[in-house]
Amino acid sequence: MGPVLGKKGLSRDEILEKLREYERNDLDPYGGRLFTIAFEPGVEELREIVFEVFKRFAFKNMLDFTEFPSSIKMEKDIIDYAVFLMHGDDQVAGTFTFGGTESVFLAVKSARDSFILKKGFLTMPEIVIPVTGHPCYDKAAEYMGMRVKRVKIDENTFTADPNAINEALTDNTAMIVGSAPNWPFGTIDPIKDLAEIAADKGLWLHVDACVGGFVLPFMRELGDKVPEFDFRVEGVSSISLDPHKYAYTPIGASVILFRNKFSKIFSQFANLRWPGYPIVNPAVLSSRSEAPLAAAWATLHFFGQDGYMELARKIISARRKIVGGFKDAGYSVLGEPTVIAAFTSPELNIFKLSDEMAKRGWALLPQKGIESMKIPPSIHLTITPIHDKTAEAMISDLKECTETVKNMPLTEAEALLSIFSSVFGLLAPAEMDIASLAKLYTEAERFLKVHGGEILTALGLERGFPKEMGQIFQLLASVPPEIAELLANYVVIEMFHRGV
Ligand SMILES: Cc1ncc(COP(=O)(O)O)c(C=O)c1O
Repeated sequence: MGPVLGKKGLSRDEILEKLREYERNDLDPYGGRLFTIAFEPGVEELREIVFEVFKRFAFKNMLDFTEFPSSIKMEKDIIDYAVFLMHGDDQVAGTFTFGGTESVFLAVKSARDSFILKKGFLTMPEIVIPVTGHPCYDKAAEYMGMRVKRVKIDENTFTADPNAINEALTDNTAMIVGSAPNWPFGTIDPIKDLAEIAADKGLWLHVDACVGGFVLPFMRELGDKVPEFDFRVEGVSSISLDPHKYAYTPIGASVILFRNKFSKIFSQFANLRWPGYPIVNPAVLSSRSEAPLAAAWATLHFFGQDGYMELARKIISARRKIVGGFKDAGYSVLGEPTVIAAFTSPELNIFKLSDEMAKRGWALLPQKGIESMKIPPSIHLTITPIHDKTAEAMISDLKECTETVKNMPLTEAEALLSIFSSVFGLLAPAEMDIASLAKLYTEAERFLKVHGGEILTALGLERGFPKEMGQIFQLLASVPPEIAELLANYVVIEMFHRGV
């Protein structure tokens, strides 16, 4: 492999041109055609301010807040606002992090350490979570030597089933999680019921309001039915909420709040055992640019409370159009949608639908469901203010794409897929033990060395990820999760390795 950098550096124009070329296949996050992970308020003036702020703070490092005390001031304002929205008192303490996953890591670490201090190191602490909870809890558990129990949900409301959660608790349970709302369906878990269970058993209850924290309070004021999920509910130990979702700040902004200021201590890291400077990290990373913090501060202050109310009104209006349009096209909605809505149709292949919509420039997320838990495959839409402008055009294309997909014959590949999934379903145990996993990884390494290239070609991945990912999602949905995860990891390693 040759060096990527030439002997001489590039000029400003050359740099910009090269990056423009790299960006060529990116989707546009501002245009209102993504119903996935772009949270777009549709306000151009804000973008200019944010870019200015980014420039000012990019090279200031949050690692040493004594050198850059502006970071403490901006963080304090953002945390105070989050505490206000979540109805916390002055005992609530928080940390600004770079994302929901990082906030969740800090909550999980605090819950785990509190548990260990009570019970000792003898058991593997467990997190009990409705199956709709975000995978960042499994990620945190993998990093921190814990186990996650994913529990069935209520099949009518698509929210947590408190009885099922209660039944899953053991002496090893360190933490219960509920979402406001969850990502797959946008439904809000019954936090009050979960809190009663947690209080009764003396367990840590984390509320994942990463999606809803900065928007549901406004939607409630506008008349949406939003059950209580914040610190007014006795028994809630911590709440995560992300400015980089529904406060529309640039990516890299989340908040974790602890009801009890002292329990924040388990989420921090301090080390004075080396010959260097004293380290105290409030978050997972050590060196962090101040830019995302400053940009979040600027965005919050740009909108103010009235601005956020207006944006929530636009979401409600867009949601009305989207839910009405999907129903007209023959779909049914799963549970009570909030800022996220998910739709299903028994007679339609939703993976093909998402591919057809992608051909017309719309990004919607197909979701596989879980047959054994009576959760059907569905199509997910994250609804943001910009969609108030684009919803009607999207629905018009949806209606046409729905007809196209209904009339598509079964392809050879699909017939193969269904055989594939039934065979794999027979082979794979529900949950693999370490020995079977070890065997799977050894065999997989050998197999992928020989056949990996052919697999990538068969999936159409030899030149990078295609815009239409439906068939790949369908393949992953048709094999057991252990194998799908291995395959997905392999594909991503290869794509990054090749840089395509
Ligand atoms: C409910 C929920 N929690 C946590 C996360 C993780 O957030 P992030 O992607 O910012 O790490 C997400 C992301 O979509 C989410 O939907």
